[in-house]
Amino acid sequence: MSIDVEKIYEDVRKKVSFQPRAALILGSGLGNFAETVQIVETLDYHDIDGFPVSTVPGHKGRFIFGYVDEVPMVIMQGRVHYYEGYSMEQVTLPIRLMKLMGAQLLFLTNASGGVNTDYHAGDFMLISDHISSFIPSPLIGTNNEKLGPRFPDMSDVYKKEIRELIRRVAKEEEIPLKEGVYIQFTGPAYETPAEIRMARMLGADAVGMSTVCEAIVANHMGMDVCGISCVTNMASGILPQPLSHKEVQETADRVAPLFERLVRKSLAVIDREYLCRKQS
Ligand code: HPA
Repeated sequence: MSIDVEKIYEDVRKKVSFQPRAALILGSGLGNFAETVQIVETLDYHDIDGFPVSTVPGHKGRFIFGYVDEVPMVIMQGRVHYYEGYSMEQVTLPIRLMKLMGAQLLFLTNASGGVNTDYHAGDFMLISDHISSFIPSPLIGTNNEKLGPRFPDMSDVYKKEIRELIRRVAKEEEIPLKEGVYIQFTGPAYETPAEIRMARMLGADAVGMSTVCEAIVANHMGMDVCGISCVTNMASGILPQPLSHKEVQETADRVAPLFERLVRKSLAVIDREYLCRKQS
């Protein structure tokens, strides 16, 4: 099945007139980020025909259109995951829609397990690259040349120039920031210790169940991508305790104020020093 993204875009345009310059996906821990947004319009995923709707407790499902400082943004409050039973094409549909609406930047956030043994629960990791080899590619199927090329280059997905800006912001704000490779597995079960040892051998620093497929689709459409992961727990087998969704949520909630500040300040700087310059 092939989704008619352009038709869905036209439907959404009948409901929303806002023109975003940047898109942000709120992962676990950034649920309250919306409170700092100057909201202009919102649109529930339920109200978009053919749109996937999140089934995860605690994940709201709506687009927020508005301003973060001066930046016109579309914000996804709640994302859908592959493990919920949607196809990769459905999971990444919101990314395509946000690009068609005008967003040139995609800022990804998520919760992850720390694979790198130097990491600790509560750390932030700037995503430098990813490993997608254990999930189906969201680009499999007929390619719509209007959206992007059949064989997209993947050599600078998480733009080096943007990462430098985020590192600078973190330093100015005195927020410690790791940098590393994120690997996406399908979930929904957490990984086994053997899988985490494998991920580490392959060069991964953090593991999660989202983000990579979204980055691939954004890159396919020519968006500038960046991402920060909140390491909410050490991955399976590293510490002598089982993993739980409760731990993930508790850590995410604990560091949420710092995470929000890092994302908000980074967005302002990226907009001023990267997006606006690029447009002019
Ligand atoms: N594994 C996969 N996804 C996750 C984890 C983890 O340890 N923590 C938060 N999301």
